[in-house]
Amino acid sequence: MHNEVVVYLTLYLVFLSGLHVNGEDDTVGPTFIKEPPNKIDFSNSTGATLECTVRGNPAPEIIWLRSDGTAVGDVPGLRQVLPNGNLVFPPFRAEDYRQEVHAQVYICMARNSVGSIHSRDVNVRAVVSQNYAVNVMDEYVLNGNPGILKCHIPSFVADYVYVEAWIQNENIELTSEISRDYDSKYLVLPSGELHIRDVAPEDGFKTYQCRTKHKLTGETRLSATKGRLVVTEPTNNISPRLLGIKITGSIQQDCLYNQTGVVRCDVTAYPVPVFKWYKFIEGSNRKIAVTLDDRVKQVSGTLIIQEAKVEDSGKYLCVVNNSVGGESVETVLTVTAPLSASVEPIVQTVDFGRPATLTCNYEGNPVKTVSWLKDGKPISSDESRALKIDSVRKEDKGMYQCFVRNEQESAQGSAEIKLGGRFDPPQIVQAFAEEVLKPGPAVYLKCIASGNPTPEIIWYLDFKKIENGEKFRIGNIITATGDKISYLNITDVQANDGGLYQCEAASKVGTATHSARLNVHGLPHIRPMEKKMIVAGGTLMVTCPFAGYPIESVTWERDSRTLPINRKQKVFPNGTLIIENVERQSDQATYTCVAKNSNGYSARGNLEVQVLGKFFYVILLNEFKLINK
Ligand SMILES: *[C@@H]1O[C@H](CO)[C@@H](O)[C@H](O)[C@H]1NC(C)=O
Ligand SMILES: *[C@@H]1O[C@H](CO)[C@@H](O)[C@H](O)[C@H]1NC(C)=O
Ligand SMILES: *[C@@H]1O[C@H](CO)[C@@H](O)[C@H](O)[C@H]1NC(C)=O
Ligand SMILES: *[C@@H]1O[C@H](CO)[C@@H](O)[C@H](O)[C@H]1NC(C)=O
Ligand SMILES: *[C@@H]1O[C@H](CO)[C@@H](O)[C@H](O)[C@H]1NC(C)=O
Repeated sequence: MHNEVVVYLTLYLVFLSGLHVNGEDDTVGPTFIKEPPNKIDFSNSTGATLECTVRGNPAPEIIWLRSDGTAVGDVPGLRQVLPNGNLVFPPFRAEDYRQEVHAQVYICMARNSVGSIHSRDVNVRAVVSQNYAVNVMDEYVLNGNPGILKCHIPSFVADYVYVEAWIQNENIELTSEISRDYDSKYLVLPSGELHIRDVAPEDGFKTYQCRTKHKLTGETRLSATKGRLVVTEPTNNISPRLLGIKITGSIQQDCLYNQTGVVRCDVTAYPVPVFKWYKFIEGSNRKIAVTLDDRVKQVSGTLIIQEAKVEDSGKYLCVVNNSVGGESVETVLTVTAPLSASVEPIVQTVDFGRPATLTCNYEGNPVKTVSWLKDGKPISSDESRALKIDSVRKEDKGMYQCFVRNEQESAQGSAEIKLGGRFDPPQIVQAFAEEVLKPGPAVYLKCIASGNPTPEIIWYLDFKKIENGEKFRIGNIITATGDKISYLNITDVQANDGGLYQCEAASKVGTATHSARLNVHGLPHIRPMEKKMIVAGGTLMVTCPFAGYPIESVTWERDSRTLPINRKQKVFPNGTLIIENVERQSDQATYTCVAKNSNGYSARGNLEVQVLGKFFYVILLNEFKLINK
């Protein structure tokens, strides 16, 4: 007795866990635990590893792609894809540098049965150590004006080498620490230049060197030459004028969010001019004077913005005047903030036929584009911030991502749509098979489709809809379980009634089709074909509507030549002709389908193909919309 209870209980539990498996979906689409960075620069002597860690159920696989979507593999000694998903670039000799490996955009893709996601673009750059020298040149400055000394770094290392300090007279170190005191005479600007305010004749006796540091190798270097300020005391008054070449348009300056932004006004004049800063109100020609405070300071003509905010971005104007004239310079400051994105809701379960909305929340500056991916493939959305699906279909389940991008970086967020259980897309559960018949009797073809809501069934012969009439009778029955049974009855079947029959079950949540040939003994016959219009660049696919039995061959011809006559054309024994990338010049023509039997009888049918330009496509689309209204 006691044992029986245990057995029942065990069975009951087995039953329950079975229910659990069927009733609840425990799959989880892939998500990144560790997404690779936007950018990785490394030295040939150190190498680098890109980590990509994901989770999901079933455990996702990781594939590395190039930005064109092709998968990358191992390159012996230069690139290796590890089983854990990491992409490794080992140290390499200078002569082994390969652009397609070492200067490339990579994407980490993760996929499982639920769907797939892409990481942000990872810009990889390997740098081969090269010898370089930095220099400081003499700069001319008018007495009383600010002087600016530049540390000249060769362009081939400029991305990796930055100014760490300036050395005055070989012993005094000027660093950006000193420059925190904005009233000080010396400022090391974020660009590495040394800004010296209120230059006086005695400043001309000091020498300056810059000390640089290599970001990748950590090596520091002192400039090979020493620079000086050459202070001149003009005898005539000089009206404000731009330093260097006159630049047309605005000067562009970038700075990173929460760091120090510098907006320069490189104008010199004698007597020393007065600088006044304005900022344009976005999208207008109106400007307001910049208010100076604890955060925004003006040092000589230079505007220094501490802990820059995205709102500090915009177009600035400095107006410089002295007793003899004036000048003005426009500068555009862009305060960049790291991009980030997320999609809401992260997981949603939607019933078939119901709407779904995904919202993209993003931050950062500037945001140049917002785009959406579904399982790694681009999809379009009317709004950038949201993706709306009016009526969810079976193929809508999977992983969605929103990507934000600017010239420097990208970021993504992902979300999953699961299908609810309330509706079922159509499924054909029983259907007719291919048949060979003698002419004469009545024939009936049957299709049974399940689905919730109950689908409609439509019949086609050689892709042309069959209407209820004398010859064809269509009857539909709904069973007690909600399945749809549809009959296609053909009275007095003849050889010419042979062809490819198709039943299509459709509801608002999907479609399913089944097709098979009906062959009726008799001579070859080809049903008339309607003219086909196709847009240039598209693919033409037609199947010859042939009847008769037995048929030995079905071929396609053009100008009496048997196809294929070029690589764009494909002809299959079942009578299907495919022409890819259709062009008006080469493909607009009359094509002929020929069905032959073994006794030498044949039938021919013509198909006229017209190729439309993209312009006509728009017209066709509009007509299509009208028809559907
Ligand atoms: C990297 O390149 C430099 C310069 O050509 C070379 O001296 C160094 O040995 C290279 N590193 C490795 C690991 O081969
Ligand atoms: C800005 O930078 C300061 C110091 O550099 C830091 O303390 C602060 O947390 C940063 N603020 C933000 C919002 O990143
Ligand atoms: C200052 O210079 C600007 C730009 O050339 C000029 O438009 C303006 O009239 C000058 N202001 C004065 C007070 O001279
Ligand atoms: C078609 O044929 C089947 C089977 O003989 C029959 O049950 C059905 O009533 C027929 N339907 C029509 C519309 O003639
Ligand atoms: C004919 O065969 C080709 C290749 O197998 C196939 O792609 C095509 O769908 C077939 N056509 C029809 C109408 O079944």
